[in-house]
Amino acid sequence: MSTNPSPHLRDLAAPRNFFIGAAVHTGAFSGDESDYRDLLQREFNVLVAENMMKFGELSRTPNTYDWTHSDALVDFAAQHGMKVRGHTLVWHQQLPKWVTSSQWTTHDVQTLLEQHIKTVVGRYRGRIWAWDVVNEAIADSGGYRTDSFWYQQLGPEYIALAFRWAHEADPNAILYYNDYEAEALNPKSDGVYALVRDLKQSGVPIHGVGWQMHVGEGWRVSDGHHQNAARLRELGLELAMTEMDVRCQTPATAAQLESQATSYREAVEFALATCSALVLWGFTDKYSWIPRFRPGYGAALPFDAAYQPKPAYYAIQQALVGTDEAAQAQAKD
Ligand code: G3I
Repeated sequence: MSTNPSPHLRDLAAPRNFFIGAAVHTGAFSGDESDYRDLLQREFNVLVAENMMKFGELSRTPNTYDWTHSDALVDFAAQHGMKVRGHTLVWHQQLPKWVTSSQWTTHDVQTLLEQHIKTVVGRYRGRIWAWDVVNEAIADSGGYRTDSFWYQQLGPEYIALAFRWAHEADPNAILYYNDYEAEALNPKSDGVYALVRDLKQSGVPIHGVGWQMHVGEGWRVSDGHHQNAARLRELGLELAMTEMDVRCQTPATAAQLESQATSYREAVEFALATCSALVLWGFTDKYSWIPRFRPGYGAALPFDAAYQPKPAYYAIQQALVGTDEAAQAQAKD
């Protein structure tokens, strides 16, 4: 049984009109671990599907959709007063084999993508707070990612088309461009800035930029983060930290876990001032993607594999409490 540290993160975030969330692991969520669901609804006020809303997970055979898991997630969030981030409509990964292994004309692919976006967004119209419409379309160089099926089939136009289709399907959903390692100032974040600036100036319905925040222990906020956030917000876009985890070399030492806690605290303090939300990519080390994809690393999340809070959890809690004044103000409530 997990300990139940209070005050819970969502109870501290709500009075500050801030959203603190986690990605939901399909197997854990649909399994019989009551700890998993209990902790989700106790601590967080926004959820995102780690995988269950991706093209390859929803539509494994042509023109069919399995909504079992995504419906369960959206229903759970509604039952517990939580918002949902939709992830993700257009990505170069986790595409169905029936899409990538077939011969299509350009018109076929455009129709296919429009139908996919309108089917998924339409199903959850009014129930999804924000969509990661396009994920990871910019390369490290700052140019377009050219190893994307969508880029190869449709050219860069696929990006604007995707946003327009998503907006047609749900005019009230907040539409994000989402990427990784484009948080501080670098060629990639310059490329993301140029992309979203041009989209915005062309009248494309884009509303926000997601910083994934897959970082390593030792990460700290820098001037580059502040400068990048400022230029994006000057475009009239909102920001969110969408997939945060702070990987450590494993087994993580106490010193590494304290450093990890500092990473989380600085990120939350930054997000409170600049972002609509901070979403973790999972919440327990038991179900993190890191060990499989980054061998030798793990221990990236605020709860350990036994659902026990780590120093990172308490650092997030304290950052949400904020200054003494804010804490005293909250204490009076
Ligand atoms: O669902 C299939 C299952 O049917 C099959 O039997 C099994 C065989 O291995 O694979 C299952 O799919 C796996 C999927 O996760 C669901 O568990 C894929 O192999 C596996 O590659 C996939 O990994 C996900 C990864 O994206 C894909 O690149 C991770 O869980 C997920 O955490 C990760 O998340 C991404 C974000 O969406 C975008 N930003 C980066 C982030 C980390 O890569």
